Amino acid sequence: MKFFIDTANLDQIREAQDLGVLDGVTTNPSLMAKEGIAGEQNILDHYVKICNIVDGDVSAEVISTDYEGIIREGEKLASLHKNIVVKVPMIKDGIKAIKYFSNKGIRTNCTLVFSPGQALLAAKAGATYVSPFIGRLDDHSTDGVELIRQIVDTYNYYEFPTQVLAASIRHSMHIIKCMEVGADVVTCPLSAIMGLFKHPLTDIGLQQFLNDYKKLNG
Ligand code: G3P
Repeated sequence: MKFFIDTANLDQIREAQDLGVLDGVTTNPSLMAKEGIAGEQNILDHYVKICNIVDGDVSAEVISTDYEGIIREGEKLASLHKNIVVKVPMIKDGIKAIKYFSNKGIRTNCTLVFSPGQALLAAKAGATYVSPFIGRLDDHSTDGVELIRQIVDTYNYYEFPTQVLAASIRHSMHIIKCMEVGADVVTCPLSAIMGLFKHPLTDIGLQQFLNDYKKLNG
């Protein structure tokens, strides 16, 4: 299972990268805005900074919603760095654009996916990744992890190469549940990644080992 961080914050990306377990980064326009990154050139420069920190796929999202605009933007983003994956919304023109990018060898991440039917369209269009948003489904009293399971099972059945990238992860338990149902990738906030370290028995056990060592060795 690949491990991405879901942020545009360079310090957090560096911190996750330093752990040695990071495989990539996902961003979206809200995450870029949260970092105060505005203006086309600043946004493009920021993606390059991210690519220079992490040697793995970096999803950069288009903001156009029409076919020509998505193509224009996506080609520009893809030309920034070999690791850029063009993130395209699950809309009619988005699916057409994903098909175009797929034919041209430009990798894509189909985002804002909330149903198996949308995931089917993304796979048929040749998306590299599909991003179902599990936290936002949970917010609406719908089981987000169950959607991941459905998509993983059906993609496996039909042997679609599109990778299931579980997004909108809110906490460590989401990561564990996605692992159990076979997600190819999880993209997580740093807090959810750090939460995986925690277990009180680890802390108690370590303290015991250190105390016992000290008793004899000073
Ligand atoms: O990048 C998309 C996604 O992970 C958004 O997460 O927490 O805003 O629902 P969230």
